[in-house]
Amino acid sequence: MAMDQREYRNAVGCFATGVTIVTTLDHDGEKIGITANSFSSLSLDPPLVLFCVDAKINSFEAFESCRHFNINVLGEDQMDMSNNFARSSEDKWDGVEHGYGENGCPVFDGSVAVLECDKHAMYEGGDHLIMVGEVKKMTYQQGESRPLLYFKGGYAKLA
Ligand SMILES: Cc1cc2nc3c(=O)[nH]c(=O)nc-3n(C[C@H](O)[C@H](O)[C@H](O)COP(=O)(O)O)c2cc1C
Repeated sequence: MAMDQREYRNAVGCFATGVTIVTTLDHDGEKIGITANSFSSLSLDPPLVLFCVDAKINSFEAFESCRHFNINVLGEDQMDMSNNFARSSEDKWDGVEHGYGENGCPVFDGSVAVLECDKHAMYEGGDHLIMVGEVKKMTYQQGESRPLLYFKGGYAKLA
């Protein structure tokens, strides 16, 4: 039986996630960033994390060939940033304040956490590529922090 894609999205969208912006540099040193909620921690020793990148998006080749990437875990006040990096656009980075991690990839102040990664492995996963990174440096907000959430196709906040 052919899978109804809308129904499939509705079903998997019942799994609530956080929201990240994953950044890297392409081979010309241009900044790359995409909103991604496919992030997951993977291994404690070594410290591995993963996210999945859609083979159809403009940034695909940059992620496929990169050596490093950064996971910026967004806070609830960064919804505009999430929307900005969820669209294909030439001017994604215009006016976006950012710094750089030790690995040279962009980081966003105000993120709930930033994980600086070396690419560890890649695996095919249907129409996505599973990107595994080894965390080399991490920062996270101490004390109370409020993550941005995603659930059933829309943003949510902690109660
Ligand atoms: C909440 C949310 C989560 C997303 N998660 C992913 C993801 O995990 N992987 C992915 O490839 N695209 C994901 N996207 C879509 C990408 O952000 C979008 O296709 C990308 O920014 C396109 O940019 P580009 O064409 O400039 O590469 C997500 C979008 C939203 C709104």
